[in-house]
Amino acid sequence: MAIFFQFPATLPTVPCLLLFYSKLIILTERFSLRIFATLFSHGMELNNGTYQLQGISFDLLAKELGTPLYIYDAAKIVRQIQTLKGAFSGIEPKIKFAAKALTNVSILKLMRKNGIGVDVVSIQEVQIAMKAGFQPNEIMFTPNCVDFEEIVQGVSLGLNINLDNLSVLEKFGKKYGSSYPCGVRLNPHIMAGGNLKISTGHSNSKFGISIQQLPEILQLVEKYKIALNGLHIHTGSEILEIDVFLKMAEILFNIAKDVPSIKSLDFGGGFKVAYKKDDKTTDVPELGKRLSQLFVDFEKNNGRKLELWLEPGKYLVSESGYLLVKTNVVKQTPSITFVGVNSGLNHLIRPMMYNAYHEIVNVSNPKGELKTYNVVGNICETDTLGADRNLNEVREGDLLVLENAGAYGYMMASNYNSRPRPAEVLIIDGEAKLIRQRDTLEQILQGQVDIF
Ligand code: LLP
Repeated sequence: MAIFFQFPATLPTVPCLLLFYSKLIILTERFSLRIFATLFSHGMELNNGTYQLQGISFDLLAKELGTPLYIYDAAKIVRQIQTLKGAFSGIEPKIKFAAKALTNVSILKLMRKNGIGVDVVSIQEVQIAMKAGFQPNEIMFTPNCVDFEEIVQGVSLGLNINLDNLSVLEKFGKKYGSSYPCGVRLNPHIMAGGNLKISTGHSNSKFGISIQQLPEILQLVEKYKIALNGLHIHTGSEILEIDVFLKMAEILFNIAKDVPSIKSLDFGGGFKVAYKKDDKTTDVPELGKRLSQLFVDFEKNNGRKLELWLEPGKYLVSESGYLLVKTNVVKQTPSITFVGVNSGLNHLIRPMMYNAYHEIVNVSNPKGELKTYNVVGNICETDTLGADRNLNEVREGDLLVLENAGAYGYMMASNYNSRPRPAEVLIIDGEAKLIRQRDTLEQILQGQVDIF
């Protein structure tokens, strides 16, 4: 810290002044540590043989808060927000965090403090977003296959709403006519995304109203004088190619130019982040440049301005998150060495559900010899977290970190095998703050009705 602050070489000898100076030094050191932690943190770092996040070791986090533990790096989230905002010029995109990726009130508040709105899919997510301080006009509600009553609730709360079925649009038109604006979610018939389970824009997907049904959409709009104010497309998650977004832009601008009531075009989320060290990622700066130009051109050619909306989930939080687990057993079979940890598909379902790759690091033995392991959970069915991984030698008791656990990690966790879900901690300004407690057995039992 001395690098940043110079103190007088000789301190006054009067005792009270000494006290004053020592307090000042402590305060200044804390302050400079915070600035340092925020500005210079680059995620998980190996410092003097210890893996740390913003200067806090994983070892200490495990000692203080136990394992398994979800850990989020606020500095990384803020950096992602800044990079995304900085990718656009001449327009100001409205960024709505896809809350489903990480619905924790403290994370939502962090987003809001940084000028980010929220994208929600259920009335419960709406309620949590409002608890975090979001105003209705900052909330985009894009539900799928929900009871119409949920949409009515959304209207009564004053949310932005996207409808994704013709029957729902008709009901909406009948009930509200032109009195309450809405958008529609379109299905563009584009196959995109990391795998079929997370592809939502293809013709066999349940999402959105088929682009081929555009005439029916416009007929309903006309018939009920619906105030159609937005168009929305979300084609899937982990979309590498920016051409997919440019194709979406072509479709959306083409419709918007003939429908003057449309004010915003929402491109959903889906930017691909790096799961492995050299993974290719969506070229966000290039995409920002190209989309900015298209919006500026649209205004020039059509004499009206449209807003660009985005709904990133993974992009904002995936890389900020780590799942810290402890090795319970090392099991040698004739063919495989298993590392059995105190977690599993109940806490991180992505490897089993999507065949997703999460980097695994043995933070307890950074200098250990590299060996090949299958890292598995303690759940009573096959729950591989990582197969054929080269890790520094793992010993029973060692702590392992699974990276990229910020998005759809905790949120898809369950109490399967009646195990508690982990606690969550946010590392912010060099301090670890608990943002969710570990489940207790009482919570797991709560709600069960013993009829005997
Ligand atoms: N907007 C809408 C309407 C969405 O349905 C989603 C995600 C997003 C935005 C955010 O997409 P993202 O930027 O996070 O890719 N559980 C899966 C991902 C499911 C995504 C669901 N919808 C996974 O862990 O890979």
